[in-house]
Amino acid sequence: MTARFLRIALASLVGLALAAGIAWWQVQHATHQVETSAAAVGGPFRLTDHTGKAVSDADFRGRYMLIYFGYTFCPDVCPTELSTMAAAMDKLGPDADRVQPLFVTIDPERDTVAHMADYVPLFHPRLVGLTGTPDEIRAVAREFRVYAAKAPGSSGEAYLMDHSSFVYLMGPDGKFVAVFPGGTGPEKMAGDIRKRIGS
Ligand code: NI
Repeated sequence: MTARFLRIALASLVGLALAAGIAWWQVQHATHQVETSAAAVGGPFRLTDHTGKAVSDADFRGRYMLIYFGYTFCPDVCPTELSTMAAAMDKLGPDADRVQPLFVTIDPERDTVAHMADYVPLFHPRLVGLTGTPDEIRAVAREFRVYAAKAPGSSGEAYLMDHSSFVYLMGPDGKFVAVFPGGTGPEKMAGDIRKRIGS
């Protein structure tokens, strides 16, 4: 009787340990996946800046890149996020010199170089606008896991775009450092950037 009880107890313990082990492995595995996918955000790009100059990601090496994807016809979200980025840049003071703010359009059809040139200085003198061919924009959006599509039901020239809204901080090596969800305040953004760039 006692031996049988012990066997059952032992079997239960082994079962529990096994379950705990599997759960631990799953947690580790999930964490690892998150890290891997975060590290995979971003990549090389070839685009045209708002002065008409061809640029690539390599041109920004040595500086942090603060990147937002949106479009100039956006009625609300994009102007808000770009204003936040601009305010965060101002709050960074001299540290801002090490950060390049970038605005990449997800609406290359309408966001021509001339249009970007009119738009980006409204937010910050150092903000660089980037546009490109539809293929170039699709490629960079894919690398940064950006969702963008014409809003259903909109037609003609006055269409809206549905798009994800994140501000990415990339390192001087071009690798992913951090992401700020839409709605992050400038105070928090500047504080986090300062922590990340370690000054
Ligand atoms: Ni927008």
